[in-house]
Amino acid sequence: MASGLHAQPQPRPAMTLPDSASSRTRADAASSASSNALSSTQPGPGFEDARRMWDQRFAQPGLLFGATPNAFLRHEAVRLAPRSRVLSVADGEGRNAIWLAEQGHAVTAFDLSPVAVTKAGAWAAERGQPVEFHVAGVDDWAWTPRRFDAVVAIFVQFADPAMRQRLFAGMWQTLEHGGLLLLQGYTPKQLDYRTGGPGKLEHLYTEAMVRALLPQAEWLLLQEYEDMLTEGSGHAGRSALLAAVARKPDRAV
Ligand SMILES: C[S@@+](CC[C@H](N)C(=O)[O-])C[C@H]1O[C@@H](n2cnc3c(N)ncnc32)[C@H](O)[C@@H]1O
Repeated sequence: MASGLHAQPQPRPAMTLPDSASSRTRADAASSASSNALSSTQPGPGFEDARRMWDQRFAQPGLLFGATPNAFLRHEAVRLAPRSRVLSVADGEGRNAIWLAEQGHAVTAFDLSPVAVTKAGAWAAERGQPVEFHVAGVDDWAWTPRRFDAVVAIFVQFADPAMRQRLFAGMWQTLEHGGLLLLQGYTPKQLDYRTGGPGKLEHLYTEAMVRALLPQAEWLLLQEYEDMLTEGSGHAGRSALLAAVARKPDRAV
């Protein structure tokens, strides 16, 4: 991994938090739930539990994963063409989507947690960044084919193996030919550190697993490594990580 990955984060101003989700994000949740292009899976019994759990975590004061964008993303986003159409998956409180918008990209983001999306929307408005935020889960997001030039998935390891298959298929489907998938996650070694992540072996990534999930990818980067993370209280300390940048091949001529 190039040393630039460890560039110093830039401080951001504090944000204020509104009381409730905006009508726009509620409407988006309803519309995206009714327009699923990839999966016919209905939210299962664990769905509401997961949303409640994440809402509770994000309802605490401050930002669970901090105000600075993920360091891997900052480093690898130089690969994106100017004004790319970017999807940030399970974006949380907006740190990555807002930073990408500040770099000039046209950013869409979604997350399961209405509390997180409300915080993200308020923060983006404060910073004058036009991010399109939606409340949606992986299984009710419309993975419109070839809609985005890049997909960003930073710590999306809430997905068990079955959901992971659907998630990666969706991310690949929604990428334009020549587009990039930027992925950061934890590896099984993270179970020794327990400084963030789901703490479940079957949710963690290995290089071989990621290769198998995206058999058509051209790998611009695929690496397991260790680093210190300082991403709020959620990701803090020595961490066992995987960084990946996959390119969707050009359409066959
Ligand atoms: C570890 S956090 C990472 C957030 C963000 N990517 C970041 O790096 O700051 C995982 C995120 O996944 C979201 N999430 C959990 N289950 C989800 C699902 N089924 N569909 C979409 N998002 C989900 C949570 O609400 C949470 O924001």
